[in-house]
Amino acid sequence: MSKTWAISGVDLYVELSGHRVRAGLEAALREAVQSGRLAPGTRLPSSRALGADLGIARNTVAEVYGQLVAEGWLTARQGSGTRVAGVAGVSPEVAEAARPSPGTRQARYSLRPGLPDLSAFPRAGWLSAARKALAVAPSRALGYGDPRGQPELRNALSAYLARTRGVRAAADRIVVCAGFTQGLALLCQVLPDYGVTRIAVEAYGRPEPVRALASSGIAPALLGVDDGGAMLLTPAHQFPLGSVLSPRRRADAARWAAASGGLIIEDDYDGEFRYDRQPVGALQALAPEHVVYAGTASKTLAPGLRLGWLALPAGLVDAVASAKARADAHTSGVEQLTLAEFITSGAYDRHIRRARLAYRRRRDRLIDALARHAPGVRVTGVAAGLHAVAELPAGQREDEVVARAAARGLDLEPLGDYALHDHTRGPALVIGYATPPEHAYTSALARLTAAING
Ligand SMILES: Cc1ncc(COP(=O)(O)O)c(C=O)c1O
Repeated sequence: MSKTWAISGVDLYVELSGHRVRAGLEAALREAVQSGRLAPGTRLPSSRALGADLGIARNTVAEVYGQLVAEGWLTARQGSGTRVAGVAGVSPEVAEAARPSPGTRQARYSLRPGLPDLSAFPRAGWLSAARKALAVAPSRALGYGDPRGQPELRNALSAYLARTRGVRAAADRIVVCAGFTQGLALLCQVLPDYGVTRIAVEAYGRPEPVRALASSGIAPALLGVDDGGAMLLTPAHQFPLGSVLSPRRRADAARWAAASGGLIIEDDYDGEFRYDRQPVGALQALAPEHVVYAGTASKTLAPGLRLGWLALPAGLVDAVASAKARADAHTSGVEQLTLAEFITSGAYDRHIRRARLAYRRRRDRLIDALARHAPGVRVTGVAAGLHAVAELPAGQREDEVVARAAARGLDLEPLGDYALHDHTRGPALVIGYATPPEHAYTSALARLTAAING
């Protein structure tokens, strides 16, 4: 049974299923408020009207409203009816604390790694870059284009990457793609034809790229490689451990690739965010003919843009461009021109500088909160990037801390989830401190330390 209700100009969509009408209505309204579909302050239909429309007793609706008021989701005031809480009603924090059956709900806070602060996306700057780019774009830019990407963006990236990351790649070596995810998928198609049958991966990392490689017949193995192989590395800020590949190891890796004809895939996913030391340039510069440099806008701007780029050895460009053409012709021309304008106008640099400062402050607040409230925790991997590793005191279990956090509405990621083979390190959490919007960060940290302390 589903209904759409219109009241005071607001549509209220409620879907009920099964026989447990009361529980169903309660869950449907809770979900609508929690997901933000019903905004704070929204006035709900009267219990009589909603009951009549749904074909259920008015009292049932009244009981549901009463329950949700008690939980803090709704407010009921004489004369102003029942409304969604949060503006004039109960604060989200109070509502959060009052919610029952915590294990079953969606977390309100997240300190998982992987996202920048999406609420800080430079909307105005992006819009004005899009306006400017479209205003001056020739009509041909709206047709099918070069599968490697729009020349404007490849030129902008070539200059930007050389300036900020030391990458040595002319524009004709760059292929624009839908994030690192697609960049790797394209390489998976191409590399077997170049004799790559094995790839060395770091002991801890994201499982998705490893699965993608394996399903293309490129066997992943833990680091330690030989001829006919490749390496997938995150040299600037190891994901997830946060360490930086030392200059000696970088040189060793580049030498190995040059001597053996091997290939390194350098995933430079958050290379722009460095805090405590001199920036570490891209490994690619040490052996441009043996390193595929992969960059992405997913951390600097937002993953929803699906914009990434590969800077390729000369011998791989045509094959990767063909794979890109087969995959999806090319990445959206308008989005590419917008990013090109965003970079060349200086807005990208300004945004990154602002973001770097904000994330650095957040990192410091994380370190401070743990030092004060969970002093047994050791924080590592903090010199760069958007995440850190919180090593738990001996005796603590990752799953228990994660469960206690979940009970407080906080999503956490245990380090064990990134162990590609055995989890040989001590218990730890991978904390993505960029993820929450600014207003939620303090609450997220309070929940984190409370969960660690039990
Ligand atoms: C290690 C690492 N590399 C790359 C990416 C970015 O992937 P994409 O560019 O496909 O969004 C992420 C995102 O979470 C990541 O954690």
